[in-house]
Amino acid sequence: MLILGIETSCDETGIALFDTTRGLLSHTLYSQIAMHSEYGGVVPELASRDHIRRVLPLIKQALRTAQCQLHEINAIAYTQGPGLAGALLVGASIGAALSFALSIPALGIHHLEGHLLSPLLSTPAPSFPFIALLVSGGHTQLMQVDGVGQYKLLGETVDDAAGEAFDKTAKLLGLGYPGGAALSKLAQQGQPNRFKLPRPMLNSGDLNFSFSGLKTAVLTLINKQESTQQNHADIALAFQQAIVEVLTQKSLSALSQTGITQLVVAGGVGANAQLRQNLSNKAASNGATVFYPELEFCTDNGAMIAFAGAMRLQAAPHKTWQPTSSFTVRARWNLETLKASSD
Ligand code: KG4
Ligand code: ZN
Repeated sequence: MLILGIETSCDETGIALFDTTRGLLSHTLYSQIAMHSEYGGVVPELASRDHIRRVLPLIKQALRTAQCQLHEINAIAYTQGPGLAGALLVGASIGAALSFALSIPALGIHHLEGHLLSPLLSTPAPSFPFIALLVSGGHTQLMQVDGVGQYKLLGETVDDAAGEAFDKTAKLLGLGYPGGAALSKLAQQGQPNRFKLPRPMLNSGDLNFSFSGLKTAVLTLINKQESTQQNHADIALAFQQAIVEVLTQKSLSALSQTGITQLVVAGGVGANAQLRQNLSNKAASNGATVFYPELEFCTDNGAMIAFAGAMRLQAAPHKTWQPTSSFTVRARWNLETLKASSD
């Protein structure tokens, strides 16, 4: 079965073709980052308008790369939420229109389910059950994943998401938007242990996180130091060390509390090299294995949506899926309310 994935929940237009026997055939992505960086963050109206411009050309490109024809597609998977309502509507309306025109089903996929299942696209892939550390610009969660649609929230941030903390701190250091990758690059020139920042909620006894205080601590530190490249690099490293230590410790606690030995890291912050190194080292000494989706599947992409659609179809083999011309989007959507199968 050939599934077309459409991701338009935020500032990336992602399109992919996933075949249930041949695997991922193609995926294309257009990032709006350059457009939004001028404003220091995502401007929702501009995001929607740009998705409109990109989706159809990207679908054509994905079909060309996969050497497939439009009529060969058996199902559409589009991101139904959570995300920016206007941006979601673009992907959902194109998904529904194609479903109606081609007489094939359209499945509304939860964006975070896409992130949670994306490690299964890589080799070696984890097997169920696993713990997922979901760290993106909008989310910081530890989830227990027992199977498709079986997700249990173990802990989450009580304020800023990890990616948001990276972005806000990067902005304080004058690094532009989104600044996670730039901050991590700057931190490579930092001297270790010159500054020590707090480890928020490290000993809170639960699996929740809090990152907004860290950003304030960075601001205080910046104001006390001379504004030099070296000082900024040292602060960037201190910030990264603090956030990485908290993410690592809580992930290890989630593994030991559940007795699960596989950890999957998903979302944009999962691209952070120090986080990867730290998690892998600590997990190995605790007898656990860490899985990372390839970098291009860590950040938002269409492949994870096409793949989640394929898993959903396979989880309900007896269901008769109908083509549709109507659609809804869900700007807010609790992942735990998803069901294991849509039968
Ligand atoms: O998953 P994602 O592409 O988008 C959503 O938020 O859904 O994640 C984007 C986030 C941004 O906050 C970005 O700064 C952060 O991931 N990020 C990083 C790195 N690369 C991207 N944060 C830390 N280190 C990185 N190397
Ligand atoms: Zn995302």
